[in-house]
Amino acid sequence: MRMLEVVGLVAGYGKLKVLDSVSLRVGDREVVSVVGPNGAGKTTLLNSIMGLAEVYSGKVYFDGADITGLKTEKRVALGLSYSPQTNNVFPNLSVLENLLLGAYTRRHDRLRDDVEEVFRLFPELAGRAKSKAKNLSGGERQMLAIARALMSKPRLLLLDEPTTGLSPKASKSLLNKLLEIKSMGVSILLVEQNVDYAMSVADRVYHLVEGKIVGEYLPGSPEARTLIETFLTGRRVS
Ligand SMILES: Nc1ncnc2c1ncn2[C@@H]1O[C@H](COP(=O)(O)OP(=O)(O)O)[C@@H](O)[C@H]1O
Ligand SMILES: [Mg+2]
Repeated sequence: MRMLEVVGLVAGYGKLKVLDSVSLRVGDREVVSVVGPNGAGKTTLLNSIMGLAEVYSGKVYFDGADITGLKTEKRVALGLSYSPQTNNVFPNLSVLENLLLGAYTRRHDRLRDDVEEVFRLFPELAGRAKSKAKNLSGGERQMLAIARALMSKPRLLLLDEPTTGLSPKASKSLLNKLLEIKSMGVSILLVEQNVDYAMSVADRVYHLVEGKIVGEYLPGSPEARTLIETFLTGRRVS
């Protein structure tokens, strides 16, 4: 079994079934991306993996253990961490305070080392430790959200559209950070609206449409190129 195995997941909110039998895998040291149009269920997929949406049937396994019914904080303790699409930092708290809140599962005597480690990865944030998050640029704020998620020392990081609203330059810089995080031994499940960005960092890409996985691609393959063209022209894949 791979590190994360999602098997036949049917999930949603109350009476609204969003995901329809979704299966996917993320292996050790893999970056896997999920692309798809607005409303496809990408965020719901990440919510389900974290225990934040209702799962009607199907399973989520992490390191071979069935975590489908576990509370979110137990999943974090096992090594999953999540940077959500919105409200992913506390705007009125400083950079440092945001990071410390991300470390709530960690031993207190390790915090200083943990903070230094994320500052090595994000030197942009190190100089702004006392700045309130609301005063950061969009790119810095996304870096803070990811840095906060890293403070729980995850083995798998779930990221929901971290490049949304960023300039191409800030997006490229953020995507390079993801490759650095991968090289530190952390796997990443990345939800992206921009297929080119997804293809530039991912080892594999899943295409989610209306709650269903309609394709799985290796970046660089002819099929992957077709996927990009489909997105650019807005044509529907069936
Ligand atoms: N918290 C929620 N409660 C009820 N419905 C929701 C909630 N979040 C999302 N939805 C609905 O679920 C569907 C999929 O949304 P979402 O997973 O956010 O898609 P995506 O991230 O791909 O844009 C949409 O129809 C959306 O309105
Ligand atoms: Mg979303």
